Amino acid sequence: MSLAAFFCLFALRAQGGSPEDCAPCHRKETARFADAGMTRALQPGGGNRRLQTRLGLYSYEVNGSDYTVSDGTGILKFPLAWTFGQGSTGQTWLYQRDNRWYESRASYYGTLGALDLTIGQQSITPHSLAEAAGRLIPVSEARQCFSCHSTGPLAGIQCERCHGASEAHLSDPAKLPRKLARLTTEEQSDFCGECHRTWAEISLKGPRGIQNVRFQPYRLAGSKCYDATDARIRCTACHDPHAPLETNEANYDARCLACHAQRSTNACPIAKKLCVSCHMPKLDLPGAHKSFTDHRIRIVKANESYPD
Ligand code: HEC
Ligand code: HEC
Ligand code: HEC
Ligand code: HEC
Ligand code: HEC
Ligand code: HEC
Ligand code: HEC
Repeated sequence: MSLAAFFCLFALRAQGGSPEDCAPCHRKETARFADAGMTRALQPGGGNRRLQTRLGLYSYEVNGSDYTVSDGTGILKFPLAWTFGQGSTGQTWLYQRDNRWYESRASYYGTLGALDLTIGQQSITPHSLAEAAGRLIPVSEARQCFSCHSTGPLAGIQCERCHGASEAHLSDPAKLPRKLARLTTEEQSDFCGECHRTWAEISLKGPRGIQNVRFQPYRLAGSKCYDATDARIRCTACHDPHAPLETNEANYDARCLACHAQRSTNACPIAKKLCVSCHMPKLDLPGAHKSFTDHRIRIVKANESYPD
């Protein structure tokens, strides 16, 4: 099934909702939006990198949108159709063969600046050159990939993906979209959790152990700080979905002190700043070549096992 066919499902309604449509009236939200990680969660083609690696018996080359896999005797070559991921963690490609979708076995990892095995494919042993190129993904799964990484016909998470269809609002600004700022903390965790995974999904289906460190709604709900109705601990208390991720740890102190400063004169017996550096540790996720920020806010003990 082609991507065009996927998009037919969405394209039935009128277009609109790209940042350019909103920019004239919503400067604040659109100003830094192009640099926000989510905006670039999906891009057409293979990008413009030139990368090579060897994984076991096979060698891999990505040259722009050309993906070549070889075992020394045979060669397979595919045009890369879509790049998933903006690249700070990593990028995985989807390509088509005989009208079916495949996920590349080699992915780009930002911290390595190089190719390595795609996370999730570590346990797969390829039995042929075709299998070494990538994993066949069922249509239903491909549909899910696109659903979390795009916005109808637009690649990446754009305004409409969160704010809903915008034709009515564009033709009459007085017809306001749903007020997302009114979501309670729990409702917002579920809203962002549509893609970042909800507490319910992870507690029912796992994964358990360090594999769930990247599912923030689940981790956050396990903190003593979490209160389903207190807006000071919801996702947007710390993150502006319209801007790039804030990576200066000092800029999160005020978020913590919004609650902890009032509780006593000394919020912490150890330190007065850089709260997240100790209480939201960055933990290595095996195979991802990247550490993720543990949203289970806590006192971290030396040699503790991962609190699940
Ligand atoms: C012609 C001007 C105009 C355009 C174009 C426009 N808006 Fe608005 N929008 C407004 C006005 C006016 C308001 C109400 C005042 C405010 O909250 O800023 C508003 C409010 C909003 C709100 C806040 C709703 C609330 O009550 O919290 C959202 C969300 C929003 N617009 C999204 C969008 C999106 C997404 C687009 C692009 C698809 C867009 N707007 C395009 C004028 C516009
Ligand atoms: C439609 C799916 C979707 C929804 C809804 C969504 N996200 Fe995301 N988000 C993503 C994807 C996909 C990425 C990964 C982007 C990448 O690395 O390519 C991401 C990345 C992020 C990042 C990291 C950005 C960076 O620069 O590294 C933050 C922070 C984030 N999301 C917060 C939120 C918050 C807060 C909400 C709710 C208001 C939310 N997201 C809702 C899909 C979504
Ligand atoms: C339920 C929603 C969802 C589905 C389905 C989904 N993703 Fe993602 N994806 C995300 C979110 C959210 C992130 C960001 C994770 C973070 O930074 O915490 C992400 C990140 C990524 C990244 C960046 C690298 C990384 O590991 O963070 C790649 C590459 C990626 N996804 C590829 C895919 C592919 C390929 C598929 C389908 C086989 C897929 N995703 C299916 C939500 C989803
Ligand atoms: C990942 C989801 C997401 C995306 C993408 C997104 N927004 Fe928002 N937006 C939100 C959330 C959540 C809020 C409510 C913030 C809060 O909790 O205070 C919001 C609030 C707003 C508001 C109201 C501001 C206010 O003062 O309440 C406007 C206007 C807006 N967004 C416009 C846009 C425009 C324009 C785009 C595209 C350039 C966009 N948003 C993309 C999630 C998103
Ligand atoms: C109390 C503050 C706080 C709250 C609340 C919070 N985060 Fe974060 N988040 C952070 C910090 C700090 C980082 C790491 C920033 C950096 O890179 O230094 C982070 C990083 C992230 C990242 C990037 C991936 C990573 O692991 O580093 C994503 C995605 C994210 N948060 C999503 C969410 C979502 C979704 C919610 C709501 C369920 C949420 N966050 C609630 C503080 C918070
Ligand atoms: C919504 C209010 C709120 C916010 C925001 C908040 N906390 Fe908390 N925090 C609490 C409450 C309530 C408790 C549990 C009662 C107590 O121990 O005082 C707590 C407990 C803690 C504990 C003790 C946990 C334990 O294992 O005993 C630490 C450490 C902590 N918070 C650090 C932080 C840091 C760091 C931030 C910012 C990243 C933060 N908190 C943000 C309300 C909050
Ligand atoms: C250098 C690491 C470090 C930094 C930075 C740090 N803390 Fe702590 N914090 C700790 C440790 C360790 C403990 C446990 C102390 C103990 O139990 O003796 C602790 C305890 C706490 C507690 C529990 C106090 C209690 O009485 O139970 C809270 C709340 C807290 N910190 C909040 C914060 C806040 C808010 C910030 C930022 C203003 C912060 N911490 C910065 C290491 C740190």
